[in-house]
Amino acid sequence: MVFLKDTNDVKAWRTVAGSSVALVPTMGNLHDGHMALVQVAQQRADMVIVSIFVNPLQFGPREDFASYPRTLNEDLARLQEAGVNAVFAPAEEVLYPHGRTGLSLVMPAASLSKDLCGAARPGHFVGVTTVVAKLFNIIQPQLAVFGEKDFQQLQVVRQMARDLNFPVQVVAVPTVREADGLAMSSRNAYLAPEERRRAPLLYTTLQDLARRVAAGERDVAALRRAAWETLELEGLVPEYLELLNAADLRPVEQFAGELRWFAAVRLGGTRLIDNVPVNLG
Ligand code: PAJ
Repeated sequence: MVFLKDTNDVKAWRTVAGSSVALVPTMGNLHDGHMALVQVAQQRADMVIVSIFVNPLQFGPREDFASYPRTLNEDLARLQEAGVNAVFAPAEEVLYPHGRTGLSLVMPAASLSKDLCGAARPGHFVGVTTVVAKLFNIIQPQLAVFGEKDFQQLQVVRQMARDLNFPVQVVAVPTVREADGLAMSSRNAYLAPEERRRAPLLYTTLQDLARRVAAGERDVAALRRAAWETLELEGLVPEYLELLNAADLRPVEQFAGELRWFAAVRLGGTRLIDNVPVNLG
């Protein structure tokens, strides 16, 4: 496995890596969810490169950029073990040599990025699309793998690639969960043991909502209200809870196509997100 730190390293590696390269962009602190992306990348491409970069541009001023877990040595050992071909772990100056302000930013489609996490985290998706566009241009992968855990991010990146003609196929991987259903996330480490015990309620609530809609319940407002209350009673304070069309993240008008329930909650000081598909049969 080669370790690449700047854009010239990547350029040199890229000339020998060939024309079947898959990129897995991450912020490190790798868990089994990230490793599932790596596996799909390995199945779909000859060469796999993982990027590790805690992107300051996508964190709000009161968010956890400073405290975000950084575990580079453990991450490298895991990736080496998995047989990854290259890791790109640039310092901030490599991606933002002229600083974080005054940058040309890649604007995500407003229709996809203004609601859900976009509403709760102003500027977040601009930070994501900007860094992903930079990674696409530096690495020039044929394929890039993203998790459904961050479903809105996946759709925002897909549309960016389509709208801006990036010759990159975006591949989605289903959410990897802990045994009790909690979606794996680097932020789960912030949970106190007692919070961790309550956290799976986010998934079980979404699953229940999805089952009810699949079974024919159509009063979405009532379902939403009851689920909101259930979460709140257990101290999972909802930020949003929505049933949307998966493709465009628009409110549901017809019960057809791919629908998903989306939620973000605060549990103590930790923000958790999750989403589940509705199986309309
Ligand atoms: P990060 O949170 O490290 O996630 C990297 C990738 O792993 C994302 O595509 C995310 O959706 C996926 N992922 C995380 N948890 C997962 C889980 N439990 N199951 C399946 N996939 C999971 O998302 C980011 O980093 C950043 O925004 C990034 C795209 C790297 C841009 O900075």
